[in-house]
Parts: sequence; C-alpha cells; structure tokens
Amino acid sequence: MPRRVLTEGAVRLVLGAAGRLTTPLLPDDYLALADPLLSRRWPAGRVEEVRAETAEASTLVLRPGHGWRPAHRAGQYVPLGVRIDGVLHWRAYSLTTPPDGPGEPFSITVKALPEGRVSRYLAHRLRPGDVLRLGPAQGTFHLPAPPPRRVLLLTAGIGITPVMAMLRALSDEGGTAGTDVLLVHSSPDPGRTVFGPELRAMAERLPWFRLHEHHTRAGARPAGHLTPARLPAVCPDWRERATWACGPAALLESAERLWAAAGLADRLHVERFRPLPPGPSSPAGSLSSDARVRFAASGVETTVGAGTPLLQAGEAAGVAMPSGCRMGICFGCVTPLLHGRVRDLRTGEVHGEPGDLIQTCVSAACGPVTLDL
Ligand code: FES
Repeated sequence: MPRRVLTEGAVRLVLGAAGRLTTPLLPDDYLALADPLLSRRWPAGRVEEVRAETAEASTLVLRPGHGWRPAHRAGQYVPLGVRIDGVLHWRAYSLTTPPDGPGEPFSITVKALPEGRVSRYLAHRLRPGDVLRLGPAQGTFHLPAPPPRRVLLLTAGIGITPVMAMLRALSDEGGTAGTDVLLVHSSPDPGRTVFGPELRAMAERLPWFRLHEHHTRAGARPAGHLTPARLPAVCPDWRERATWACGPAALLESAERLWAAAGLADRLHVERFRPLPPGPSSPAGSLSSDARVRFAASGVETTVGAGTPLLQAGEAAGVAMPSGCRMGICFGCVTPLLHGRVRDLRTGEVHGEPGDLIQTCVSAACGPVTLDL
C-alpha cells in the first residue's frame, strides 16, 4: 500500500487549527514527537544511505523534513545536530550535492577525525533511519552565476567537499560555455582521495575540467605538503584565475599571503568553519540603550543592554534557553520572535518580524522584544 505523505499545505492547515488547542506547547512539538521530519520549528533530516568513500570518510544521504529550506547554493554548508549519549552536538558540514527541490535528498561527506567524537560517530556509527537536526544552508563560498571564465579550485583532504558540490553542479548544467576549471587537490595517496574515482572520471569526461592530484605520502619519494609556492608549476596562469580554496588552515593562510603579496586578495575565496564569536568589538558593542525583553512562555521579563546576546540575557534571567555552539553556526538556539526587532551582533543588521526564527546567541534586542520561550 503506498505511504501517504502530508503536503506542505496540509501540514500548515493542521498546524493552524491545532495551534488554538495546544497553547502553550505548539502543535509542531506534538508533530515532531510523531515524526521529527514534520516539525517546522526544529528542522530535521532522516538518513537514507551511508556510503563509505574511503576508510575514514562516509557520505550521508539525508532526506530533509518540512522545516528545511532547500534553496542552497553549491559550496554552502549546513549546520547539523546529532544526539550522542543524550547530548546534542552541532557541527557544520559542506553539502556535496547541488541544490534540489523541496524534500529531495541531499548529501554531506564526513571524515572521521582521530580526536573527533562527533565526526567518528557520523562517519562510522550512523545508520539509515537515524534522524539529525538541521539548520539552514549558509555560507558565501560558492561560484557566482555565471561562473568566471577561468577558475582555480585549490583543495586538500576533506576540503574537497564544497568544491565537489560546485563541480557536480557545473557538470549537471553541462558546464558553462567557455568555463575552464582546474582543480589542484592534495591528499595522502590515491586510495585515500575522497571522491577520487569520480574526480578522475570527470576529468576524462568533461572537456572544461582538469584535475591535478598532489599526493603527500604516495610512492618512494612522497611529495610532502602542497604549498602555494608550488602552485606556479602546476598552474602557471594562477594570477588570471578566480580561485576558491578549502583545506587545512596552514594551506589557506599561506594562500592568502601569496594572493595578497600579488595584490590579488579579492580573487581568492577561502572557506573556514570558524566564525568569530560576538565580542566587545562587534558592531553592536558600542550601542548603549537598554531594551525590555519578555520570554512569553516562561512569563519572565528582563532589561538587557543593546550588545547583550538574547541567549545570555535569557540564561541570566533564569529561562531555559536552547543552545549549542553559542557562536552562530549550529542553529541550536533558534527561537521564534513574537514581537520586536533584533540586531545581528556579527553584522549590525537589524531584522525580524513576528514569526521569524532568530538565533539568540548572536542576536540582541533592538527595542522591546518578545520571544516564544
Ligand atoms: S547558532 Fe549555535 S547556539 Fe546559536
């Protein structure tokens, strides 16, 4: 018998009608108990497939639920929450598939790091049917549309993941007329190159794509680390190419120095998963006016400074605040805004309308605010 699936419209109707019956808990919370993928408040995805890429890396294919917004760009990352022994951990992983329609599966690829409890769990212990929490896709590491005529992709190790999404997207589009893409990728050896077989097959098949593999530990005379100093030998026209780089910090930092020294810093795009936490130097740090914040479900009201994250303000007032990374990447603190406007402490941008989900760890009150907590 075919499985019945609720449409987006049906879910909205049910939620609207039920909302009047279930206050203060939201009907969404009950739906999430029945099936986490029905929740709009706490977006989730179900693992459909776990595929080994190398001995250390696995690709997870996830089917997102109703709450996840599908419109990502190839190269962006998704915050992902996994519960291990009762504790929810948040990490960010690059999507390795091009954008697809609502509800369509997408993939991420995780390398198990020796010290990484979460990465080892995701790469080796996750099973089809397991459910993970999701934040919205985000990040500025993506190609413009249309892509530049000459592109250099500079990657090492698991830094290949956002670039793989870009290559797959370009391949799906049949390439873009006149685009010439060179990937210079470093890995220990051919067998430990994540996506190695697919990359080599692409290089054979696609006239606009060339692959240069650098193996740090293969053969009788290992090549050692890939450094930008070696770049001119493998990519003589690197100065003329727009470059996207992702990999270990040492590679990215030396690439930034090389491009800056050449006066080409604006042609280099790098991907790091280390956003700065909000601090006293953030744009809102200089604002001084206090604001009244009300936590509607808890019945608590407090006054906070304009540079104080709402997460911190709620905790100080004794409200049970959901949280995770506390620096704006995991979306573990996302909360509905019922009234008022908030300021993003990272950018200074003022935003928010009733019903919007806001990240309390990087948002401060901009005037009176009410949160659904
Ligand atoms: S985004 Fe992680 S706690 Fe706010």
